[in-house]
Amino acid sequence: MASGRSEHWSDFWASGALTSLPQDFSGNYDGELAAFWQREFEALPPSARLLDVCTGNGALAVLAAEYSARQARSFHITGLDAARLQPRRMAESHPEAAAFLEPIRFIDQTPLESASFPAGQFDFIMSQYGIEYCDWPRAAERVARWLSSGGCFSLVAHAADSAMIERMGREEAEYDWLEQQGLMPALAQWLAAEIDATVFRQSMAALQPVLEREAKKRRSPLLANALNMAVATARMDEAAMQRREQDFRGFHQQLRLGRARLRDFLRVNRAIAADRQWYRPFLEAGLRLRDSGDILYRGRHHAGRFYRFQKDD
Ligand SMILES: C[S@@+](CC[C@H](N)C(=O)[O-])C[C@H]1O[C@@H](n2cnc3c(N)ncnc32)[C@H](O)[C@@H]1O
Repeated sequence: MASGRSEHWSDFWASGALTSLPQDFSGNYDGELAAFWQREFEALPPSARLLDVCTGNGALAVLAAEYSARQARSFHITGLDAARLQPRRMAESHPEAAAFLEPIRFIDQTPLESASFPAGQFDFIMSQYGIEYCDWPRAAERVARWLSSGGCFSLVAHAADSAMIERMGREEAEYDWLEQQGLMPALAQWLAAEIDATVFRQSMAALQPVLEREAKKRRSPLLANALNMAVATARMDEAAMQRREQDFRGFHQQLRLGRARLRDFLRVNRAIAADRQWYRPFLEAGLRLRDSGDILYRGRHHAGRFYRFQKDD
């Protein structure tokens, strides 16, 4: 079962997303990120066994499968994640990735910390915006155990000072603002039948002018959505509100899980920013750091920091 901690990710992958950052990447990870991974794949033996940890709907696993197919390799690729995954749904919205799903074995609803593979099972373990979400010491101990002797572990972690994180910080402030203005509490209370439709409608009508001003000022899609909901609600009679109850529930769920996902991103980024040597547990687990560095996307945007480890013979 996907735990409560994974609900926001399960919900997100059910939307058919390919990467965890669809606002920043319309398809799969490309540019300097894809180039980094391509160099890693080039160094692997033809039938290498790969594990993509925290794989999501398989963006990185798909990059590996694509490389394997194009270069006539026969990589064996496993993708692992704590959330419920929907790679088939992803393939419907990203047909260009569909052909590469076949060789990937997805193991979902399985936190890395409780997954079990035989020791030495993988030649290459990889992670894109992933392993930093786990318990670092427990994840490190497992990665070191699952790697074959001489095997490598490479990861690209979020960069705490990236434009993506800046945008997420602004979005977090917008959620907080919606909460303070009473929109999220009023919606939750009406859905739980703690207030009646009239009170809810009145509170949405009262919120409209301030929402309109703030959505314009912050040029925020989130606040614009909330404004649309408030305007529509204020115009409805009670019967129409009852008929549209599922839409209200959907919007409430979208707000709740979107906020939880954002908090998860920011929690991880803040933890990394607070400890520049956050990856120390991987060294303590016996891996050797071969190199690390920044990835500048399109030559400009700090898209992440890579770390390349090896398990020595
Ligand atoms: C930011 S997303 C990245 C997903 C994918 N690598 C990508 O780049 O699209 C982080 C993923 O880590 C997963 N995750 C978080 N904690 C985990 C854990 N302890 N074990 C396995 N997966 C975990 C989440 O479910 C989510 O799918």
